[in-house]
Amino acid sequence: MQQTISHETIERAVAEAIRIRTNAYAPYSNFLVGAALVDGDGNIYTGCNVENASYGLTNCAERVAVGTATTLGRRDIILCVVVTDTPAAAAPCGACRQVLSECNQHMQILCTTPDRNDVWCTLDELLPRAFGPNDL
Ligand code: THU
Repeated sequence: MQQTISHETIERAVAEAIRIRTNAYAPYSNFLVGAALVDGDGNIYTGCNVENASYGLTNCAERVAVGTATTLGRRDIILCVVVTDTPAAAAPCGACRQVLSECNQHMQILCTTPDRNDVWCTLDELLPRAFGPNDL
């Protein structure tokens, strides 16, 4: 079941994702990503991508944001906002979809850009039949 998210909360989350994106450490790709997660009480948790000279150790913005929320004791994420400065908004990578699904398979996803090319979808659409705890 999807929870309704107020316009004000959505705008706060987008503003946070746009802001946090500028903290991305992406000297290898120069591709800066910002993410903001919203929990069931409207709290916001942010993350940016953190690259490494050993490229495979790079952490995506969305997974950093899941770490932020988890560290602060929340996993009940209902919205993930992802911001990239691209002509069309980019969707979370496959690894991030899997990690997000551990929080809530049904969360809403808003992919957007600093100049607001918004694309809405759900994690169900991005990762159908996700592998989860019930498969173990
Ligand atoms: N990246 C993210 O932060 N999130 C995604 O969903 C896709 C990719 C980052 C990883 C890397 O730092 C850069 O974007 C280029 O792949």
